[in-house]
Amino acid sequence: MSSDVLSQSDVQIQHTECFINGEWVPAQSGKTFATVNPATEEEIAQIAEGDAEDVNLAAIAARKAFDEGPWSKMDARDRGRLIYLLADRMEQEIESLAALETLDNGKPYQDSLTVDLPLAIDCLRYYAGYADKIHGKTIPIRGNHFCYTRQEAVGVAGQIIPWNFPILMVAWKWGPALAAGCTVVMKPAEQTPLTCLRLAQLAKEVGIPDGVINIVPGFGPTAGAAVVKHPMIDKVAFTGEHRTAQVITRESADTLQRLTFELGGKSPNVIFDDADLDAAVQGAYVGLFLNQGQCCCAGSRVFVHKSRHAEFIEKLQKLTLQRKVGDPFAADTQQGPQVDRSQYDKIMSYIEKGKEQGATCLTGGERVGEKGYFIAPTIFDGVNDDMAIAQDEIFGPVLSVLTFEDKEEIIQRANNTFYGLAAAVWTRDVALAHEFATRVRAGTVWVNCYDVFDAAAPFGGFKMSGHGRELGEEGLRAYTENKTVTIAL
Ligand code: NAI
Ligand code: MG
Repeated sequence: MSSDVLSQSDVQIQHTECFINGEWVPAQSGKTFATVNPATEEEIAQIAEGDAEDVNLAAIAARKAFDEGPWSKMDARDRGRLIYLLADRMEQEIESLAALETLDNGKPYQDSLTVDLPLAIDCLRYYAGYADKIHGKTIPIRGNHFCYTRQEAVGVAGQIIPWNFPILMVAWKWGPALAAGCTVVMKPAEQTPLTCLRLAQLAKEVGIPDGVINIVPGFGPTAGAAVVKHPMIDKVAFTGEHRTAQVITRESADTLQRLTFELGGKSPNVIFDDADLDAAVQGAYVGLFLNQGQCCCAGSRVFVHKSRHAEFIEKLQKLTLQRKVGDPFAADTQQGPQVDRSQYDKIMSYIEKGKEQGATCLTGGERVGEKGYFIAPTIFDGVNDDMAIAQDEIFGPVLSVLTFEDKEEIIQRANNTFYGLAAAVWTRDVALAHEFATRVRAGTVWVNCYDVFDAAAPFGGFKMSGHGRELGEEGLRAYTENKTVTIAL
């Protein structure tokens, strides 16, 4: 498949319905909604609009598969084998999955193919290998007793995912859940349901039993809320906005579901005066513009030491002006459209606020073309900590440059946000790097790099950036319950 000739009409849409108990079924209400190609603003397909009734059927299927089905009785190693098979199947279909992802989300096809899909496949393989390595301890308690613990699957996992990395979010959620032995009710984002539905079909084809994976597409306040309120669902894993997590926390009060959240950020990317500046410029550029700026860990506050500011700006501006924005299926495109109209409007309103509040717009700041939600890569210089663009998560291609002079000042300013997802520091001073890594309140700290992800390395937030961790052993634990067994001897 040559990426140059791909367009909307080349991509096949095979699945648009709910996937419940291994079957494709329309929403009980018969309702559908449109999923749109953000590069053209044209409808791609009508998708089943799931609601409480559909979530109920999915939860019943998942509950039954967990309580009675072959899944919970299967040897752990065989469960792992099925996850490996799903990863292999995705690898066989990598081009068609990447094309479907790009069609629905707008991200460059080259990124879908060489970043999102390989990371997703790697994540599934990482957790597949874990399935038969989840075990408890024997504990020497007082008296003549034998005491041991078991790490058991938490049960039915409700999983609500966003639109910025649709396939990767499926892998981050299914990988640990399936390895732990859970069953799943997933609600994909309304903007990007297509690849999640396709992956459900691949899971069926490799032999993951009916009812283990169930997908209910639809909207947050209806289908999403029904997942959160359903008494048969034991745990909810959510990725998205912190305000939505606040609603979910309130709505889960009755069922007291276990909650894990991966939320937003306003991550500081700090460049000290002794940094390798070319590497730091590259890190600032990728750390913000990757995925059209739609990353929870985007380095959206770039702090540069005053003595290197002029040099930094010159290099960053040069790089940014060369960034190729356009048709996500073209081989040389580096930046596609934002995911939808509402994200486009939100970003443009922050660009206006930046200008109004006195920041200097060095490049970009406007729409690209007349069709599709394209925004020119934008750099604001002369940004202050109290400007809206320095405080709020913009989730778009808008990079803010701030300056600093000393270490104590910058550590305090880096932490001066209610978020705490990621942070980065650029310096050749090992002691300074460690001190920054220790004192910054963030779940991930990158030193002389940015956006280095690995399935084995836990990821998640301090403060209002989340609860719990995904990936790594920590990510698996979030899908297990500890059970203590004590036997009198
Ligand atoms: P959102 O948090 O509303 O949506 C994420 C998912 O949650 C979607 O599947 C949505 O349908 C679902 N949802 C929405 N309301 C719900 C509810 N009441 N109960 C259960 N599920 C619900 O995020 P949205 O509106 O797409 O984007 C708004 C902002 O959130 C973005 O501009 C960005 O700043 C941030 N965001 C952060 C993400 C991250 O990776 N941390 C991902 C997506 C958005
Ligand atoms: Mg929302």
